[in-house]
Amino acid sequence: MKDEVRQPIFLKDYRATDFIIESLELEFDLFEDHAVVTNKMRIKRNPSVPSKTPNLFLNGEQLELVEIKMNDKLLEREKFYLDEKSLSLNSNEMSFELEIKTKILPQNNLAFEGLYKSGGMFCTQCEAEGFRKITYFLDRPDVMTKYVVSITADKLKYPILLSNGNLIAKKDLANGRHFAKWQDPFKKPSYLFALVAGDLGVLEDNFITKSGREIKLQIFSHKGYESRCKHAMHSLKKAMKWDEDFFGLEYDLDIFMIVAVDDFNMGAMENKGLNVFNSKYILANSETATDVDYELILAIIGHEYFHNWTGNRITCRDWFQLSLKEGLTVYRDQEFSSTVFSRAVKRIEDVIRLRTVQFAEDAGPMAHPVRPQSFIEINNFYTPTVYEKGAEVIRMIHTIIGATNFRNGMDKYFELYDGMAVTTEDFVHAMELASGVNLTQFKNWYDQAGTPEVKASSEYDVKTQCFKLKLTQSCPVTPGQSVKKNFHIPVAFALLAEDGTELLKETVLHLKEKEQIFHFDNIRQKPIASLLRSFSAPVKLEYEYTDSELSFLMAKDTDSFNRWEAAQKLYCRTFMKQVEAKQKGVKLDVSSELTTAFQAIISNDQLDYHLKSLLLSFPSESYLTQLFEKIDVESITFAQDTIVKHLIENSFSALEKLTHSLTDQLSKLKSQEYTHEASGLRSLKNTCLRLLCQNDSPQAFAHAISQFTKAKNMTEEIGALQALNHFDSKERTDVFQNFYEKWKKETLVINKWIALQAACPGGNSLARVQKTSQDSVFDKTNPNKIYDLFFRFGYDNLSGFHAKSGQAYEFLVDQILEIDSRNPQVAARLVSIFNHWKKFDSNRKDLMKTQITRIVETKNLSNNVFEIASRALN
Ligand code: TRP
Ligand code: ZN
Repeated sequence: MKDEVRQPIFLKDYRATDFIIESLELEFDLFEDHAVVTNKMRIKRNPSVPSKTPNLFLNGEQLELVEIKMNDKLLEREKFYLDEKSLSLNSNEMSFELEIKTKILPQNNLAFEGLYKSGGMFCTQCEAEGFRKITYFLDRPDVMTKYVVSITADKLKYPILLSNGNLIAKKDLANGRHFAKWQDPFKKPSYLFALVAGDLGVLEDNFITKSGREIKLQIFSHKGYESRCKHAMHSLKKAMKWDEDFFGLEYDLDIFMIVAVDDFNMGAMENKGLNVFNSKYILANSETATDVDYELILAIIGHEYFHNWTGNRITCRDWFQLSLKEGLTVYRDQEFSSTVFSRAVKRIEDVIRLRTVQFAEDAGPMAHPVRPQSFIEINNFYTPTVYEKGAEVIRMIHTIIGATNFRNGMDKYFELYDGMAVTTEDFVHAMELASGVNLTQFKNWYDQAGTPEVKASSEYDVKTQCFKLKLTQSCPVTPGQSVKKNFHIPVAFALLAEDGTELLKETVLHLKEKEQIFHFDNIRQKPIASLLRSFSAPVKLEYEYTDSELSFLMAKDTDSFNRWEAAQKLYCRTFMKQVEAKQKGVKLDVSSELTTAFQAIISNDQLDYHLKSLLLSFPSESYLTQLFEKIDVESITFAQDTIVKHLIENSFSALEKLTHSLTDQLSKLKSQEYTHEASGLRSLKNTCLRLLCQNDSPQAFAHAISQFTKAKNMTEEIGALQALNHFDSKERTDVFQNFYEKWKKETLVINKWIALQAACPGGNSLARVQKTSQDSVFDKTNPNKIYDLFFRFGYDNLSGFHAKSGQAYEFLVDQILEIDSRNPQVAARLVSIFNHWKKFDSNRKDLMKTQITRIVETKNLSNNVFEIASRALN
């Protein structure tokens, strides 16, 4: 691809289209080696655009044009212009009909965008710009129209024919073919179109809405897998009820369908009335799926369902507004999971994800605002910033204006914009109208990249009983943004007495200036500040707590999130000192505060199991590396090993005791089915097992082997594998081999094994990953497998991926380039592994630079890969 087509597009250049599409009829004729698409559009001039240009420009890629008719007359070749990416023609009429027939090759489509085949079925993925690989169209979200879709295919091979909306006709045809016609009564943008054809099994149920309408629910999967869709169905019904209860939002069609497919670039897709899911987020039973899988399925089913209102009924004006639907919908799915599970635990999990993935993105070459100002390839902007930070922005609005105003703001949003394609400003406007709060300064969160830093310091005067808190904010420079305006940062805050009672109830401080001092009078004794409760803003907070204050907060804070946060802080602090000591060549004992605190958690039997499990879990390597300006691989690995070994040595028997008692409790469970309580027990037990095994003793490994052999569900099996995975022992080899033999035919299960092969640290890592990539259970075209092997290798294996030789870098780039020739979206995601190359030592830095340069210099590189790699280099 030539460089002139790699021009970025800019938010500031947005213009509405000169033409609109009033109605659309699509016909699909599906065959084994091709498909024919007939597209009938009634086109009108856009009444809201004054321009009189006669030129109609339609997007279209990888299409073979068969014929084109205007107002029923065949259009001669010289009447239209055609190139690789578009079809354009002139018309001065106010309204006309176009009929375009194209031929496409779904069977050869391994990019999994547009119409493609997966596991014998036809399916589609149109977001963001996949519809243009199906037919010529105004393929952008502000062009909305009503769809009528006919599908014709072989009846035996494809008995199920689906599209959006309601089935309005069905009949058998000659030659063993049959036909189905679907009509979607709602206007929608092209990215929400979907079609599925296959020989599928179905799980059916129904839901009665609050106004008494009966909705038919169907989840389609490969035949024989119907019973594995039960948890997804249960989750769907919960989500439908939750949206009615919490937002008053009722489903709007008479039927809601979900299809599980094996080859899918992302998690799932919210197509109107016909969600398409990556099968890993649908299929589950206790033997094949872990508790974490169950929780993810609930969250993603909720997410896609909630898009029906936040995304589909109100959609995005352009792709720069992506967070309008994604940030808001992630916020909604997080709240949904919080009510089904536990609020504090869900918040901690979400913050872990935000800080490991989004904070890293915000500190690297791909840093961009929640609403980006430019991009080359929109698929590269389905990012943790747009999704997770976008959700934090919505959460902060909720915190600033309060729950009632927020709910009224949502009502206002639907009242003003239902059926429209709008911007993030429109959303904020609805919130301002409903609350009367001015959010002008708050909107900086949408337009400025980078993670703000908040420094806090305090003073207490015994005589005046006054507590003063000083807060200052700053934001690091990010690509293209050297000067930043102040953010409006909500800081939830409380003051605690020595016995843990609240001297000052939780209140929200509004930090809007560079520096602000807050005074609190009548504080009877010297308090301990509990700051940024529930992580009320996505910032890095710095406050000079002493070790003993952190231990106190861990034990006594009335905000569960901050109890966990104190434990993390104590660990990170110990860890950083240990790294420094190693770099200076001095030996350092592990802080006794940490050791005592760790033991106190193990023996605390008042704690919720999930919370206890989180309190005993150390920050991940990828989070820890963010604490440093320079990543010193050897010292980081050493420090973590030293601290963890020290902690375990001092608590080994206490951990064994806890493990036994948990095993005992688990053995009394009547069923292996997922429940929130059982999942807490198993999570804590797996954490104990992981800790015990860090001891590297046969006695420790025996616990893992025992759990594996007696395991009654996948959570326990995987827990044993994870515990053994930090060290390449004989025990590990045996258990992994057993698991492999047992599960090699179950593709979703064996993917867990693949991901663990990628994460096993040490000098043998590359060889292990290479071997796994050659194994018959691997499939180099399947996105799940690619992510589980290569992505996990890059992200979960510091010592292995960054082994001194640099051979892993070269291997990964070979893979990226090969994958890019089939599937650019997936290849581009892998490139981000190199985003932080500049933070490594000069040797590794050079090796990585050589490899990223090799990517950028490759001929025929996709825009997707080019954008990420070139940003990393510059
Ligand atoms: N809109 C989808 C979501 O719910 C994201 C998505 C699914 C997607 N498949 C995609 C985005 C393919 C880009 C490309 O979040
Ligand atoms: Zn989404």
